[in-house]
Amino acid sequence: MCGIIGYVGAEPAADVVLDSLRRLEYRGYDSSGIATIDNGNLHVSRAVGKIKMLSAQLAVSPLPGTVGIGHTRWATHGGVTELNAHPHVAGGHVAIVHNGIIENYADIKARLIVAGVVFLSDTDSEVLAHLFHEAFTAGKTPVDALDQVLSEIKGAFALAAIAKQYPDCLMVARNASPLAIGLSDDLVCIASDAVAMAHLTRRVIYLKDGDRAVIRKGEAEIYDIDQQPANREIVTVSAAPMLVDKGGYRHFMEKEIHEQSDAISNTISAMTSETGAITAGFETEHLAAIKHIVILAAGTSFYAGQIGRYWIEQIAGIPVSVEVASEYRYRSPVTASYTTALLISQSGESLDTMKAMEFAKAAGLTTLGIVNVPDSTIARESDIVLPTRAGPEIGVASTKAFTAQLTVLLSLAIALGQQRGRLSIAEADALHAQMMSLPGAIGQAVSRFDEIRPIAHRLSRSHSAFFLGRGTLFPLACEAALKLKELSYVHAEGFAAGEMKHGPIALIEEGVPVICFVGPNELSKKTISNLREAEARGADVIVVCTDSMKDIVDFAEFTVTVPDCTELMAPLVMAIPAQIMAYLTASEKGTDVDQPRNLAKSVTVE
Ligand code: G6P
Repeated sequence: MCGIIGYVGAEPAADVVLDSLRRLEYRGYDSSGIATIDNGNLHVSRAVGKIKMLSAQLAVSPLPGTVGIGHTRWATHGGVTELNAHPHVAGGHVAIVHNGIIENYADIKARLIVAGVVFLSDTDSEVLAHLFHEAFTAGKTPVDALDQVLSEIKGAFALAAIAKQYPDCLMVARNASPLAIGLSDDLVCIASDAVAMAHLTRRVIYLKDGDRAVIRKGEAEIYDIDQQPANREIVTVSAAPMLVDKGGYRHFMEKEIHEQSDAISNTISAMTSETGAITAGFETEHLAAIKHIVILAAGTSFYAGQIGRYWIEQIAGIPVSVEVASEYRYRSPVTASYTTALLISQSGESLDTMKAMEFAKAAGLTTLGIVNVPDSTIARESDIVLPTRAGPEIGVASTKAFTAQLTVLLSLAIALGQQRGRLSIAEADALHAQMMSLPGAIGQAVSRFDEIRPIAHRLSRSHSAFFLGRGTLFPLACEAALKLKELSYVHAEGFAAGEMKHGPIALIEEGVPVICFVGPNELSKKTISNLREAEARGADVIVVCTDSMKDIVDFAEFTVTVPDCTELMAPLVMAIPAQIMAYLTASEKGTDVDQPRNLAKSVTVE
């Protein structure tokens, strides 16, 4: 997603900003740029593509100066071109970077065009540069210019501006998009993600909605939405400087697939009390207050939520509904019977999920955040945080964060089941023991790349593929389809196996791959009947099952097995072949595995 960076210090600003942009690279973007000020002159460099394009440009034409701003762009308004890349400049005097959407940009643009302003880009953001320029031309100070600009714009934004007239400062503001200020003795920096500046400082101020600030070396002058001086707390963040190496793997995604045993075992530890019980970090009375849950999330996190619903209802008998976050607050949901909103987000910054959290909070629900990035907005602003301990996830397609989310959801179901008296201590211990076997099972599942290679070869030649499953393996089938389409651009859909006959079966023709997750349970017989229906119509059947079920579908073209596990653990263990299938198919097709086209790691627009 768009990321912004700013720096005021003693080092060459372009170098520091470029380094920080690299640390945001995992978020996914299509162009980037930097602007600096030196000796009263504004310098700008922008490039389409990866940071290395910008870096190569800067190697030939470096930008001087110790004050600078930078941006990685994920196109919203206007195509992927150098002119649409940030920073945007007005009159050679002001440069801005912006993350978010200026909703009333068309009106502002129309007003400015009448006043004689010439626009160079198709973006909504460019109006900001002209608004600052207009304010400075009218003799405004940095604080007054910020107030004037903010009084005119509507929407979600984190922005930073530099101006020739004020060569020693950055002007920044935020509303609904994250922005943090990093402080140390000899520099001040800003970033939309604390991780991007963790190598510079861990002392951070998170600006609140409506805040604006003027930042000079060693100081940050902050004002609130009412333009009053604001004292914001300085916190020490735990964000580790982003690891940018692939640890010998070809892609971050491959590395992250291999990190799942650790991610799960670290997450199980976080969910286990000192006495060795799965409590998900809750006191009993807090568990008792959870009576009706709505799970809100996007993308892969949404599918984790759907699996979580099966577990929480089955194990704890607590009603759960699951919704895509982007729909929730706009459909006038009836919230009265709900006690708890469970937000699931790897990044903790998806705007749809954040807004759903705010809505649920305002409706009086207690908010629980299952979040992987510890200092993210959702982690900071939900009432209770259930951390996934997957570590930084760089590949845009979520892998280890997904299985860590499942680990938390299963732990929560067990903790609730025990609190409700539906699980005896012995039964809870048995489930705990099953969970403790997960890191080993997943370690083995991860070692089966070679078994999956022929399937990936097959999928890489297909136009379309269908994924089926029943129970918790139905949402897993949807997640597997999402992975395949986002990474390899092969059209893929997931269906409940029993639902295929109600429509999707019309799409089955000779040679269409149908990949089915067959779980170790009674329903497997029904699932196999559904597969027969597909096979009878020409589908090439591919089965994912456990080792001891390996001959269960004798008409399968390929069978991939995972280590034997119980029905409850199956979605966690079977997530691994789903990930590897998508990864190997994408590798075979030569697509950009870590940064698939058009996608962003964390989407901070609606
Ligand atoms: C983006 C990513 C998806 C991710 C979704 C939710 O769309 O491309 O991979 O699942 O956001 O992200 P979150 O960080 O909230 O889990």
